[in-house]
Amino acid sequence: MKAVIALASSGLITLVRGHGYLTIPSSRTRLGAESGIDTCPECTILEPVTAWPDLDSAQVGRSGPCGYNARVSVDYNQPGSDWGTDIVATYSPGQVIDVEWCVDHNGDHGGMFSYRVCEDQELVDKFLDPTYLPTDEEKQAAEDCFEAGLLPCTDVDGQACGYNADCTSDQACYRDDWFTCEGFNSGTKCQGVDNSALNSCFTTISGGYTVTKKIRIPDFVSNHTLLGFKWNSFQTPQVYLSCADIAIVDSGSGGSTPTTTSKISTATTTSAAACTGTATASTVALTFNQNVVTTYGQTVKLVGSISELGSWDVSKAPALSAAQYTASNPLWTYTLKLAPGTTFQYKFVKVESSGAVTWESDPNRSYTVPTVSACSTAGTAIAGTWR
Ligand SMILES: *[C@@H]1O[C@H](CO)[C@@H](O)[C@H](O)[C@H]1NC(C)=O
Ligand SMILES: *[C@@H]1O[C@H](CO)[C@@H](O)[C@H](O)[C@H]1NC(C)=O
Repeated sequence: MKAVIALASSGLITLVRGHGYLTIPSSRTRLGAESGIDTCPECTILEPVTAWPDLDSAQVGRSGPCGYNARVSVDYNQPGSDWGTDIVATYSPGQVIDVEWCVDHNGDHGGMFSYRVCEDQELVDKFLDPTYLPTDEEKQAAEDCFEAGLLPCTDVDGQACGYNADCTSDQACYRDDWFTCEGFNSGTKCQGVDNSALNSCFTTISGGYTVTKKIRIPDFVSNHTLLGFKWNSFQTPQVYLSCADIAIVDSGSGGSTPTTTSKISTATTTSAAACTGTATASTVALTFNQNVVTTYGQTVKLVGSISELGSWDVSKAPALSAAQYTASNPLWTYTLKLAPGTTFQYKFVKVESSGAVTWESDPNRSYTVPTVSACSTAGTAIAGTWR
């Protein structure tokens, strides 16, 4: 009933059903459907919300980052008997992986979708406890953390990340660090991403088709965390949220029992050489801890002269994480691994949700990666303040 009112008042469409959910890795929603509890996995909808054109403005409320399916009264923010307690996939930091969501043929509303990881383990842990239903405030706090942990499309080399064909340069949706269902007006909508056949994935209404992309897992480790999926519908005032229970385990640890960390603070140094005392590490983990006061909707990126930093192309530069940002300590962080001796120049930039870029003042910063012992596990931190 709520959906009908929302959609009727939007005046945009007459369909009230359809929609989509994360399928690879298996989201809680997918597991709910496979167990028979959820009779419409593609119906986990947050509405009515301002989903467009400001992609970041919607408050998630009860839906939380994992989604609340009002049709079947299932709250995926709390582990149930069939989801949320077991890891469905284990990845390693920095790994490029294939992900997929499924959109119903009858609810293909176009728009932008994103994959996200919240690196605040204490917050995520509230969504991993079968005996605890997070409050709306905790759901919103987690959503804000997931927003800060966007996994930009542009993090994957060679992947097409054009902005949405529906957006103009003065709109927030005009950005190329999210994925897009571009081509909405062509009639192929999200289907155009894969050109997959109807029923290439499971939905209950009209049959679904897959939307696959690649994402880069962040440099972060956790025994149990969540990969969030969010689709901001272009055509309707709706957002679709789902999440999957994953582990991110440093493969350098040789597949031993992974440890849970709350934040990126303990960057490790990986090495091909054995730790013998005199051997040096083949790569060094650099963590940039940059104080940058930002306003809601702004992102900080690290752009520089090497390909890992976008070769001075802001659209290809990595975004920092605001997971540790507070009003008193406006910290943006980013960790990457580089070979010792690598010399590069760089600057931090602020990127508005509109895509507008503000550069730090001259001169360029420069850095040479130090040589460290293969036995070192401390990583190297580079602290600074916006100028
Ligand atoms: C990591 O997960 C394993 C397997 O579930 C568990 O035995 C271990 O205690 C966990 N480690 C931490 C640090 O939580
Ligand atoms: C910073 O680097 C860019 C790219 O090489 C260059 O165009 C610019 O002139 C440099 N700025 C300064 C102040 O040297």
